[in-house]
Amino acid sequence: MKSTDIVVELRNVTKKYFYPQGELEVLKGIDLNVKKGDKIAIVGPSGVGKTTLLNIIGTLDCPTSGDIYLFGKRLDYKDEKTLLKLRKEKIGFIFQLHYLIPEFTVIENVILPGIISRWKREDCFKRAYGLLEKLNLSGKENYRPFRLSGGERQKVAIARALFLNPDLLLADEPTGNLDQESAKEVIDIFLKINEELNVTVIMVTHNWELAKKMDRIFLLKNGFLVKLNNT
Ligand SMILES: Nc1ncnc2c1ncn2[C@@H]1O[C@H](COP(=O)(O)OP(=O)(O)O)[C@@H](O)[C@H]1O
Ligand SMILES: [Mg+2]
Repeated sequence: MKSTDIVVELRNVTKKYFYPQGELEVLKGIDLNVKKGDKIAIVGPSGVGKTTLLNIIGTLDCPTSGDIYLFGKRLDYKDEKTLLKLRKEKIGFIFQLHYLIPEFTVIENVILPGIISRWKREDCFKRAYGLLEKLNLSGKENYRPFRLSGGERQKVAIARALFLNPDLLLADEPTGNLDQESAKEVIDIFLKINEELNVTVIMVTHNWELAKKMDRIFLLKNGFLVKLNNT
């Protein structure tokens, strides 16, 4: 395998949080290799450090020790410019809460990354209409988020995360707030995206149905990742 096929590599990554009363070592030595097109699920009870790990992978947080390589390059936390570029151009984030802007319509929320990246207006709209169609949201482009169901809102957030065509999609409990029916639709969309766009997906989930559809499942336990059999 070429080294460029490895999208994410973590070597002995640790993370400690410091409090006045003492310290908490959430991650104690995480090793992980994720190659292009892989779908990975991370499961584990609340408070074990799943979000911390995902944020570290997404460069939103830095480890206490250890090395992280994204797209074959070791992250240098002093080089904020490169980190910003990585986040903007290569990584899409989906959170449990969708963080849509309530005053903006669906289409305005989706084109935001394009506006920030100074895309031409017409290119922004073309891209957004295409994505919304793929996500079965055609006809709702001019709705404001409050008129949508939970599942639809999450799909808008997915469209926004995909807008700049990321190589790596990080999702933190994407179905966490959804009823079973909407969760199922979001799951199907994830699989479709992964297949069509060959995006690498790392997701934290409590949804076993979703986890089972990934290539590998890891349990985060006592600060370490344990691979579970995906059968
Ligand atoms: N920014 C932070 N500062 C201090 N402690 C934190 C911070 N973020 C998370 N923690 C603590 O680290 C532990 C793991 O949190 P988190 O990564 O959110 O777990 P999970 O996503 O698995 O529920 C928790 O005990 C939490 O309180
Ligand atoms: Mg979490």
